[in-house]
Amino acid sequence: MISAERRQETFSPEETREYAGGLASQISENSVVLLFGGIGCGKTEFAKGLAAGLGVKEYVTSPTFTILHEYAGNVPVHHFDLYRIKDYNEFLENGFLEIATETGITIIEWAERVPELMSYPTAVIVKIDKDNGKDDNYRRISVNTIWKE
Ligand SMILES: Nc1ncnc2c1ncn2[C@@H]1O[C@H](COP(=O)(O)OP(=O)(O)O)[C@@H](O)[C@H]1O
Ligand SMILES: [Mg+2]
Repeated sequence: MISAERRQETFSPEETREYAGGLASQISENSVVLLFGGIGCGKTEFAKGLAAGLGVKEYVTSPTFTILHEYAGNVPVHHFDLYRIKDYNEFLENGFLEIATETGITIIEWAERVPELMSYPTAVIVKIDKDNGKDDNYRRISVNTIWKE
C-alpha cells in the first residue's frame, strides 16, 4: 500500500472549490473520492470544484434527495450523497457499488455511511473540518490518497 497525505487551509468556499479543482489532474481515473465531515462543512463545495476541474460544465448541486447525480466531464463523474443511506448493505441493495465502480471518478459525500469503500483500490480520503476558535469561513482539509498494489 502506498499513501500520500496533503493538507490545506481555506478561508472561503471559492478557495475550497479552487483547491479541489487543482487536485483533479492528480486523481487517477477509477478513483473513489470519499468526503468526510459534518453538515455544512463544505463537502458539496469541494465536489463542485473537483467536478469543474474534471471538466464538468453543468451546474453541480447536492444529490441530497436523489442520492446520485451523474455528469459528463473529461471522464464520467458519479456524485453521491449517502446521508440517506443507512449502511453498506443498503448501498449494495440499491446497486450503487456498480455505479460507484464504473469508469470515471466517483465522489461520495457522507462517506461515513460506507467506510467499506475505503478499501477500494484507489481511494482518495478527504476530511473537511471547521475550527470553533476560527472564522466561520475557515476550513481545514486533509487529502489522503491510498493506492493498493
Ligand atoms: N472555506 C470554506 N469552504 C467551503 N465552504 C465554506 C467555506 N466557508 C464557508 N463555507 C460555506 O459553508 C457551506 C458549505 O456547504 P456544503 O458544501 O453544502 O456543505 P456539506 O456538503 O458538507 O453539507 C456553504 O454555505 C459555504 O458557502
Ligand atoms: Mg453536501
